[in-house]
Amino acid sequence: MTAMITPTQARRLLTETIKGSPRIRNPGQVIAHAEFIAELVKGTTDSIRGAGIKFPVNDDEMQSAAILHDIGYCFAENGYDHPLVGGEFLRRRGFPRVGKIIETHTYAPERVLLNGYRGVHKPQEWMPMFWEQVLIDYASLHAGAPGEIINPAEKINRFKNNRDEDFQTMIDYAESRLLKEVDEIDSLMKGNTGALSSYAFLKTGDEFKHV
Ligand SMILES: [Fe+2]
Repeated sequence: MTAMITPTQARRLLTETIKGSPRIRNPGQVIAHAEFIAELVKGTTDSIRGAGIKFPVNDDEMQSAAILHDIGYCFAENGYDHPLVGGEFLRRRGFPRVGKIIETHTYAPERVLLNGYRGVHKPQEWMPMFWEQVLIDYASLHAGAPGEIINPAEKINRFKNNRDEDFQTMIDYAESRLLKEVDEIDSLMKGNTGALSSYAFLKTGDEFKHV
């Protein structure tokens, strides 16, 4: 049986982990970003359901995942690995489902494609397959400066202003996939049930292992 982490426990885990990490220079900003993503996820699922779509994601689990989505920054030697490292950390702590939900976010598959992870190049294992994962991408792509909601195309443009070449390459590879995910959620928000078949939903008892 997999333990479920409640949003309250998720907040505690994030705060404690940040406290123990020398890598986080501005804890307040990391926590505010996590809470903002949680808010955006809630707004998105509410809109989808408001459009008449039956959307069977677990709201508490999604809040916990949103709160913990960037926890990997506390450990990642290279920040680009933070989704992968965060997923691994959560799995080790006994929370494989939220680990699975967050480990694929934004450019994670492209990072694995281009650099591998722990010497393994299996980007397909980090491709979003579940709506829960796509929701985290959707929220991340709408989060600009603290508290600012932006258009995903604009967010990607801001990504492109990062001059690091590795980052540029990841974003070039990821752009069309990410914008497709955004279109699919937008389509659900318009009540288009046809989009539902694009991804699966995590089921009770789903367990995940990696490298
Ligand atoms: Fe992130």
